[in-house]
Amino acid sequence: MRTSLPFAFAVVATLAMSFMSSRAFAGDPSGLSGKQLFFRCVNCHGADGQGLKAGTLQVPSIAGLDAWYLEGQIMKFRNDTRGAHPNDTKGLMMRAMARSLNGDAEVKAVSAYIASLAPKVEKPDTSADIKRGQQLYTMVCMACHGANSQGNPDPNIRAPSQVALESWYIQEQLVKFRTGVRGSVKDLEGLRMVPMVRDALPLMAKNLGATLEEADRDILAYINTLSGKP
Ligand code: HEC
Ligand code: HEC
Repeated sequence: MRTSLPFAFAVVATLAMSFMSSRAFAGDPSGLSGKQLFFRCVNCHGADGQGLKAGTLQVPSIAGLDAWYLEGQIMKFRNDTRGAHPNDTKGLMMRAMARSLNGDAEVKAVSAYIASLAPKVEKPDTSADIKRGQQLYTMVCMACHGANSQGNPDPNIRAPSQVALESWYIQEQLVKFRTGVRGSVKDLEGLRMVPMVRDALPLMAKNLGATLEEADRDILAYINTLSGKP
């Protein structure tokens, strides 16, 4: 992977700092607030959690995601349910970072802080067919993610809202679910996604005369119009 030198340095420095501080407090509650813990995340996710593009590496915006979803994902990075696949370069970066947090209390604190940040607002994609995006979303995504993509924390679903996510990041994740990089057999929730985007979506796209690339683009553009409100 090619990344800019200052960025690579920032990453190494962040990792070193957070491991030092987690060692220093090993086993004890650190007493650090969510905001203080978030200092470890800003080199990659940006000061307000709005994501960052450095060289060829893009790190997603996480500001304003729901706390229950953030906690769940950080726990997955900690216990090898996500970011453990050898081809998951970006996931592997997060895996190390998630481990720098000291126990459930810190995971909860940093998640609550990130959830309180204002979500990133994206420009609409004018090349997309929003109407087709709506049809596809309604057929393939809505049952779990909700009519307004408000997400569903029900233990049998646990699908996140997608409105705070950037389109390029959603696209990367769809590819990861399709190719088995995300959604391993250990990952009950990730597994729910796999047949949806690998099998159901290509089929529905074909029915509507769209390629899979067009289907992804249209769904992302449609999600971008949703409120995320229940
Ligand atoms: C070394 C860079 C780096 C640092 C530092 C970092 N992250 Fe990440 N993070 C990433 C990358 C890259 C991804 C995207 C992973 C992927 O593509 O699957 C990510 C993804 C995430 C996700 C998943 C978002 C989603 O929508 O599922 C969460 C949550 C997250 N990071 C939280 C944090 C927190 C909290 C911290 C600080 C304790 C942190 N990150 C520090 C690089 C970093
Ligand atoms: C059967 C239920 C279900 C359906 C249908 C479904 N999803 Fe999901 N989706 C989930 C669950 C559960 C997760 C959380 C996975 C995890 O915990 O890692 C998820 C996660 C995601 C993520 C990752 C978000 C992030 O922050 O990394 C994206 C993107 C996504 N879904 C998009 C879609 C799209 C687009 C569709 C329709 C084409 C769809 N999903 C259909 C259940 C579903």
